[in-house]
Amino acid sequence: MRKNYLVFGQPLIEEAEIEEVVKCMRSSWLGTGPKVLAFEKLVADYKGVKHAVAVNSCTAGLHLSCLALNLKPGDEVIVPAMTFCATINSVIHAGAKPVLVDVEPDTFNMNPEEVRKKISIKTKAILPVHFAGRACNMHELSALAVEHDLRIIEDCAHAIETEYQGQKAGTIGDCGVLSFYSTKNIITGEGGMLLTNNEEIVTRVRMLALHGMSQDAWRRFSDDGYKHYEVEEVGYKYNMMDLQAAIGMHQINRVDSYWQRRMTVWQKYNAAFADLPVRLPAKFEHKSRHALHLYTLIIDESKSKVTRDQFMTALHRRNIGTGVHYRTIPVHPVYQRQFGWRPEDYPVADAIGRGTVSIPLSAKLSDEDVADVITAVREVLLTGK
Ligand SMILES: Cc1ncc(COP(=O)(O)O)c(C=O)c1O
Repeated sequence: MRKNYLVFGQPLIEEAEIEEVVKCMRSSWLGTGPKVLAFEKLVADYKGVKHAVAVNSCTAGLHLSCLALNLKPGDEVIVPAMTFCATINSVIHAGAKPVLVDVEPDTFNMNPEEVRKKISIKTKAILPVHFAGRACNMHELSALAVEHDLRIIEDCAHAIETEYQGQKAGTIGDCGVLSFYSTKNIITGEGGMLLTNNEEIVTRVRMLALHGMSQDAWRRFSDDGYKHYEVEEVGYKYNMMDLQAAIGMHQINRVDSYWQRRMTVWQKYNAAFADLPVRLPAKFEHKSRHALHLYTLIIDESKSKVTRDQFMTALHRRNIGTGVHYRTIPVHPVYQRQFGWRPEDYPVADAIGRGTVSIPLSAKLSDEDVADVITAVREVLLTGK
């Protein structure tokens, strides 16, 4: 058995960002400043999008997206039942109503047919999540949006590298939001970035992200001398710090080499698990690029010798951390109370939520780590112990 614990979702942090953070500390400019601007430009260039606004989380960016689309109480936003709670909460924080739809069994992504059924006169937007980094069916979702005059916010927390038939995720809808949380494909610790080609959205988001102050208010303490500002709206404190951007501006340069490393791990897993009584991630879609954020196994209790939770405990005993992405949204009491959602009304997401487990998939994994994961997964699934 391996000696040290393999923590799930460990980021790969290299010397360049460590030195940049130290430089930032020594400069005494920790808050929003030139490093944030540099990071925004690097991400905008990578995504081929006009505007990228750095914020302190993807959740903040999703919230601001909803506000920038002028959602009002009573407006409905269609969201998938298989996602992290942040997707749903951001809609609620903006005062709108999330309307849940079931997902597709193989991709775990929002099912466009279910979306069509839930569109009402109150629907204003669709919020697809490119789950695990696999692109949603943006062709169908965009067609629905055009047909019913809806806006699209893409939750790209898993999807920095994702492309849908040549189009980059986050640039297909009205806006998209990335996450740089510590377990993501590239990281800033906490952090996110909103992408858009829309001038109105970017102007509103920049203002709301910093208390509703007039543009560039963060420069007020710069060496150009003090500048007055106006507060135009009641905004939020969602800005990213230079200290965070110091990490991100180096990580973004390695986004593709990290992806290559995860692809190698992914292919090793596919080959090593092909004969096991377990469901592997769906095959890649032709012409689309998967961001390879999560490698998920679906444990079918009737076929495997273990339940999902027993599998996780057995891996934990072998010093290997795993994760669950996610239990379906309607299992959470707050949503049951507030919206009356029941897991059985979204059966596909419910089944995924009961069987899914994510195994380590990070650029930080050594060949030895990968071999340990493979041995442990095989042993547990074949012996039940
Ligand atoms: C699908 C999805 N959306 C949104 C978020 C929120 O990201 P953040 O932690 O950067 O706010 C996450 C985080 O894990 C996520 O998985």
